[in-house]
Amino acid sequence: MKYYHIITYGCQMNVADSERMAHQLEEVGYVETADVDQADLIIINTCAVRENAEITTYGKIGELKKNKMKNPNLILAITGCMAQKNQADMFKKAPHIDIVLGTHNLKHINEMIEEVAHTKKHQINVDMDNTVFHELEAKPSGTFSAWVPINNGCNKFCTYCIVPHVRGREISRPLEAIVADVTKLGAQGYKEITLLGQNVNSYGLDFKDGTDFGTLVTALDHIPGVERIRYMTSHPQDMTKAMIDAMAASSNICHMMHLPLQSGSPEILRRMNRKYSLDWYKELVAYARDKMPDLVMTTDIIVGFPGENEEDFQMTLEALKEIRYDMVYSFIYSKRSGTPAAEFGDQVDEEVKRVRLQTLMDVQNEISYERNQPMEGQTFDIIVEGPSKRNEHMWFGRTDGNKMILFPEDPDLRVGDTVKAKVDKAQTWVLYGTIQK
Ligand code: 5AD
Ligand code: SF4
Repeated sequence: MKYYHIITYGCQMNVADSERMAHQLEEVGYVETADVDQADLIIINTCAVRENAEITTYGKIGELKKNKMKNPNLILAITGCMAQKNQADMFKKAPHIDIVLGTHNLKHINEMIEEVAHTKKHQINVDMDNTVFHELEAKPSGTFSAWVPINNGCNKFCTYCIVPHVRGREISRPLEAIVADVTKLGAQGYKEITLLGQNVNSYGLDFKDGTDFGTLVTALDHIPGVERIRYMTSHPQDMTKAMIDAMAASSNICHMMHLPLQSGSPEILRRMNRKYSLDWYKELVAYARDKMPDLVMTTDIIVGFPGENEEDFQMTLEALKEIRYDMVYSFIYSKRSGTPAAEFGDQVDEEVKRVRLQTLMDVQNEISYERNQPMEGQTFDIIVEGPSKRNEHMWFGRTDGNKMILFPEDPDLRVGDTVKAKVDKAQTWVLYGTIQK
């Protein structure tokens, strides 16, 4: 018996890619193990979006050296965005790596493993040949929720972002293939589907036949068994009012929008190559909230982008106070070599960046708390996910808007059950509730 172990870093797209590799490995007889020390094959599926992601990965690769010493036949493969970015340099930094496999080449994993087993030589494939992962079957890792890639790559070239460089240009998966996939998953009991793409809102534009994300949302309405459809991630510039209308008309798409703003300063947005204005963005949000009053809004913000001065940062805080998101994912700007912003002369001091991040989180935490308050006393449908990480006697589920409701363990409930929960206490990050029977 040969065992494999996959470590996945980064976004959900990477999770989906790992599921596709897992399926291929099992086709040739590999069996999954949760114990890294038992593995004959270890894959680290990597992220490159911020420097920290790379540091963590190199740390992990270093740790695995001892596994290679113990088991000379162990195969170590590095896949994903960091493999695509650093290519053969990875072998120089860590010669005990056997395989470097880029983002477009997951389909070659088995043949590369074979090659290493026979030759013991480094194998690399980082061709951006545009035949992406979509055609590959997945081994879903969730119990009731599944990931469905709809497009891959990005054409936007924000000046801070490595993604277009490591994932390539936008390619959409045929609409029929997505509908077939979701239908099959629904029949298998996956009641929650998350559509994935680096920019889902540009879905279908490459077909040049009028198909777009709104068309897809409409096509995925009323699929048996599928209660909820989520999607990530969005680019505001490609989000249209027609797409919002399609969401509002849909019976299964969740009323949540993750719409990365990145900054509230016009000058910083311009230097980021974001192309929308704050006013335009705010109008889009207002339109969406008007169509879906229960909409949960989240965003991404980068602090300390090159050239960001105190005034620019204040504009970002003002934008948060005005837009009042439910939650904000905030990041310290991280220099990514190969991107234009890495060459900008006016890099912000690290300490200033840290202070801004903390200030921003303090401002947003209060808003998140206030946004959750009106939920007290209300009842929501949640899908049960299981015990909470901090306290196994408290279970949790998520609302349509992806908010977490914790409730006391209940022997009648199973993971994946859809139940009603009444919110008793609303906090900043979680809500406490009771199941209504
Ligand atoms: N530094 C910091 N944050 C970044 N992001 C993307 N690139 C960088 C970078 N170089 C953030 C953006 C994006 C999220 C996924 O990661 O906010 O929306
Ligand atoms: Fe990381 Fe971006 Fe690659 Fe996802 S697409 S793994 S976030 S670099």
